[in-house]
Amino acid sequence: MKLTIVGSGYVGLVTGTCFAEVGHHVTCVDNDEKKVKQLQDGIIPIYEPGLETLVRKNVQLGRLKFTSSIAEGVENGDVIFIAVPTPPQPDGSVDLSYVEKVARSIAEVLTGYRVIVDKSTVPVKTGEKVAETIRRYRKGNVEFDVVSNPEFLREGSAVADLMNPDRIVIGTNGERSAAIMKEVYQPFNAPIMVTDLNSAELIKHASNSFLALKISYINAVAAICEASGADIGKVADGMGADKRIGRDFLYAGLGYGGSCFPKDLSAFIRISEDLGYSFGLLKEVERINADQLDRFLKKMRKALWVFRDKKIGQLGLAFKGNTDDIRSSVGINLALKMMEEGAILKAFDPKAMEKCAISYPKIPLVEDPYEVAKDADALVVATEWNDFKELDWLKIKSLMRTPLVFDGRNLLIPEEMKLLGFEYFSVGR
Ligand code: UGA
Repeated sequence: MKLTIVGSGYVGLVTGTCFAEVGHHVTCVDNDEKKVKQLQDGIIPIYEPGLETLVRKNVQLGRLKFTSSIAEGVENGDVIFIAVPTPPQPDGSVDLSYVEKVARSIAEVLTGYRVIVDKSTVPVKTGEKVAETIRRYRKGNVEFDVVSNPEFLREGSAVADLMNPDRIVIGTNGERSAAIMKEVYQPFNAPIMVTDLNSAELIKHASNSFLALKISYINAVAAICEASGADIGKVADGMGADKRIGRDFLYAGLGYGGSCFPKDLSAFIRISEDLGYSFGLLKEVERINADQLDRFLKKMRKALWVFRDKKIGQLGLAFKGNTDDIRSSVGINLALKMMEEGAILKAFDPKAMEKCAISYPKIPLVEDPYEVAKDADALVVATEWNDFKELDWLKIKSLMRTPLVFDGRNLLIPEEMKLLGFEYFSVGR
């Protein structure tokens, strides 16, 4: 099929590439000409395992191309996906101006029937607004349908998530567009759920909020574990073995970050309020999440007594492992807070240092993970990178001034760290 994706950010680029990989002909549109040029040359602006190889392969096969012309995209695609940013506004609501602009631009060049699909995470009832906008700006009575098709990929495992989805959600009020969308997803061999437009939009916000709730729940239980001497890993294993609960997203740590959960939660709270429901439960999820970093800092203060002039090495800046994304990263907040209190910081991340240097030039970075340990009074693990597990921790200990390790992601094994001679602190155990 001929598909067009407007917006070559995380979701747009990975979706477009995977569509090409299963045999569709894909045009990716982005208004950033520099980015388009880079992508045409096979330079990928983000780090995502497996993505670069797939982009290059599909460009070479002629199934994936990039352009800055929306008219070209609309002309060349039977189905047009909108995958542009929906950033948060200061009051927690979502800025839908990019979605509106794209809808208008599509309408202005529409000459024949197209399915226009919202892939960006948007508040319920956005699809209705997109349809209204297209009706207003289209020329004549050219036909179209608007579909909501939320994306559930996670950064760091985006390609694998997209190629093997748990489910595909298609929200539409028309049979013609439902049939076309089923054809788009037929090669993925995944269960397809067709709903009305509003329900599909809600599925996305309700799912992300539920996952964030799971994380805050386990973090609250971790606080009880610390107070009672229980072990959060064992508690989560025991809970997770119940199929109704499941073990996923029950990993205690510094709390959730990233470009999705914090934004989607506040948006969902706000949307609910606008619709007349006060979602107190989700407000508590946010509060627990914010508390998690404060409780961790308190633990560090208790052990170190004062931060001022202490040399602290930090492993991890990305908001999670396997990504270079630092948006709303708890690791970044942790670094900034320790520096505010006078700590002398050195930080390392396998992939996120370039982005960190641009956005937070004050955070001192080193090129080698062992360098953060040199003469350090303490070491802190802020991101769940598997690479950190593989480090030579005996060597790290020999480099440190005092062997204190604060593991904010429960990445290391307490018994092993103690055997190696570390004073080891983690979350909920
Ligand atoms: C999340 C959802 O998982 C995706 O399904 C969704 O498509 C995406 O948002 C989106 O809306 O675009 P993502 O933010 O990329 O994906 O990453 P997650 O793996 O969900 O992690 C989010 C945060 O939660 C990270 O900071 C991670 O460290 C933290 N986390 C995750 C925990 O603290 N504990 C856990 O058990 C799991």
